[in-house]
Amino acid sequence: EKGGFEHFMMKEIHEQPKALKDTINTYVKDGKIDLSSVGISPEEFAQYHRICIVACGSAYHVGIAAKYVMEDLTGLMVDVDFASEFRYRNPKLSQDTLVVIISQSGETADSLAALRLTKEMGVKTLAIVNVVGSSIAREADHVMYTLAGPEIAVATTKAYSTQLICMYILSMYAAQVRGEIEESTLGNMLKEIVLLPEKVASILTDKERIQWFANKFASAHDVFFIGRGLDYAICQEGSLKMKEVSYVHSEAYAAGELKHGTISLIEDGTLVIGVLTQSHLCEKTLSNMQEVKSRGAYLMGVAENGSYYLEDMVDFVVYVPKTDPHFTTTLAIIPLQLMGYYVSVARGLDVDKPRNLAKSVTVE
Ligand code: F6R
Repeated sequence: EKGGFEHFMMKEIHEQPKALKDTINTYVKDGKIDLSSVGISPEEFAQYHRICIVACGSAYHVGIAAKYVMEDLTGLMVDVDFASEFRYRNPKLSQDTLVVIISQSGETADSLAALRLTKEMGVKTLAIVNVVGSSIAREADHVMYTLAGPEIAVATTKAYSTQLICMYILSMYAAQVRGEIEESTLGNMLKEIVLLPEKVASILTDKERIQWFANKFASAHDVFFIGRGLDYAICQEGSLKMKEVSYVHSEAYAAGELKHGTISLIEDGTLVIGVLTQSHLCEKTLSNMQEVKSRGAYLMGVAENGSYYLEDMVDFVVYVPKTDPHFTTTLAIIPLQLMGYYVSVARGLDVDKPRNLAKSVTVE
């Protein structure tokens, strides 16, 4: 049942190329975006001015990445909220807002409550869901399914990755129907998106190197992830993967925030992982990495092939293939999923069922 892998989490990490491909093929046909199965017309989409993304956990991290992508590609204002905060916050919603709920299970109590609250206010909803026929899928006005297949491991990997794909496609579609993207730019992005599954597969071929590094850090007490822009979104998911399956305390920081407190936590040998896929921000993140290194941090970097030569400064580097700058989360998260997995295995933990966690959180 685990397809030759020791754990479901590793099996599902390896299922990502196929899950991405199935999702892309559903919504990109003959080089064009096709959301006919979602039932959201260009006219409907064009009337929205604001998008509110509401979700929990990793799905919330997809929302953070999506905010960067959508705000960069469109003129839409994009907010992201934890469902558990949104529902009790008296959110201000108007008819020109589309609320996007992201959920693998489609049964998360807070996300479902946020959906119902939105509907009571007469505001339209679009759900990005993996489980067909789940409560959120049944109740939302529009449903965009992720085609990840069943996800068994408690820590999400392939569902997260397919949710990202849906948000990239939704962002490009919004830009297209609102006349905010050049045909040629869109064409190039659509050519890039179909290459992502192969690029993910190529990162997975190098997993033993990451295992070797993860083994060295299996007894770490703290790990910090730093990045700017989309790289910060990647850090938040990387950090959650680390702490939930390996029980190593980890935190993600926007690299510019380090100086405002966190840097006092850096001690000799503290592992700091810098994510460097956003070329216009990398120099700044690199200088933050230099700062923690001079205070004793041990550095790991995740960067794009051919972008920087980091070996002189960083103790361990993972390069991922280049892609469109809006899509880098899909590639840079793979080594971080593997880090969480391998640290957990090295510590002899129950990778697929970490303590205290449930796959679907149906109580608030
Ligand atoms: C983390 C994880 C959780 C879920 C969260 C939302 O690996 O799996 O953080 O992302 O509980 O669950 P869904 O997507 O089912 O609403």
